[in-house]
Amino acid sequence: MNKKTILSGIQATGSLTLGNYLGALNNWVEMQEEYDCYYMIADLHTLTIRNNPETLKENTLKLIALYIASGLNPEKNTIFIQSHVPAHTQLSWILNCYTYMGELNRMTQFKDKSSKHADNINSGLFTYPVLMAADILAYNADLVPVGDDQKQHLELTRDIAERFNSLYGETFKIPEPYTKKVGARIMGLQNPTAKMSKSSQDPMDKILLTDSPDEIRKKFKKAVTDSENCVRFDRESKPGVSNLMSIYGIIKNKTMDEIEKQFEGQGYGAFKTAVAEAVIERLEPLQNKYNELLENPDKLMAICNKGAKKAEEKANRVLKDVYKKVGLVIE
Ligand code: TYM
Repeated sequence: MNKKTILSGIQATGSLTLGNYLGALNNWVEMQEEYDCYYMIADLHTLTIRNNPETLKENTLKLIALYIASGLNPEKNTIFIQSHVPAHTQLSWILNCYTYMGELNRMTQFKDKSSKHADNINSGLFTYPVLMAADILAYNADLVPVGDDQKQHLELTRDIAERFNSLYGETFKIPEPYTKKVGARIMGLQNPTAKMSKSSQDPMDKILLTDSPDEIRKKFKKAVTDSENCVRFDRESKPGVSNLMSIYGIIKNKTMDEIEKQFEGQGYGAFKTAVAEAVIERLEPLQNKYNELLENPDKLMAICNKGAKKAEEKANRVLKDVYKKVGLVIE
């Protein structure tokens, strides 16, 4: 049977948040049985901001461990490091020549990141979505599981692929984003109108996958809600409570209606405690596995080396086809 192909990745910038987990990683785990999955560490994308080289190395290894600790089976998925497969950057250059400045100028993440890093608006930050398009198109991915914030990049990827196909004939599959209705945008705990982000300056705004149970309890206890004291889903007027309900709903596999009924007549105190305990219960085995995996970095590297070999075979086939189509001479 021909399985559909999935590709996705996460940047190696520090510990992941509950947003990364619920919006992306958790869905990846669900997909591993049914699809041919390629999951990479987007280390090249991480270079668009300034990193300490030692920290980047450490974060890359930690992220591999987190992928596996979250439930990705290295036997069933191709797990690899983006920079180990040169086809990504090779294809990216070609796709740059089929992407317009105007398109890149419209990317909200570029505007957002350049305002946050005003002293370092490098051209990598600008062409970042083209490298992401290359990541996806090099595998002819059918589906790309991401959170809501990456959807605009996916649309651009589709536009680039369609443009290339219409110029040179069927070359790339047109990928679809895969997001779930609940969880595609987990919001900050202190500012529930903005997404929970790894780069948030306020530690109380984000739950890290490596937070201790006490930290998690403290952060949920202090999470911003409203004065109604009634657990009811309404993103517009109750963004804080609705966000907590989304988190609880994904972890406990409950609908918003079920959660409203479960906490009827109870105040926010009891609800927040239940959310915190659900998160702790989910993260505890993940953290144990993560710490265990980090004790054996050679094993993690072996998994990635094997993954890169398999990824390279697939990506090189697509790259060769693209070279031929645009008229590059292949030896
Ligand atoms: P990154 O590293 O910023 O985020 C990784 C994944 O986590 C999702 N995410 C969220 N989902 C729900 N709620 C949130 N608060 C939240 N915050 C983050 C993101 O949508 C993403 O799915 N450019 C990408 C990495 C990348 C990539 C790719 C992804 C590089 N190449 C190819 C897919 C395909 C990024 O910076 O994600």
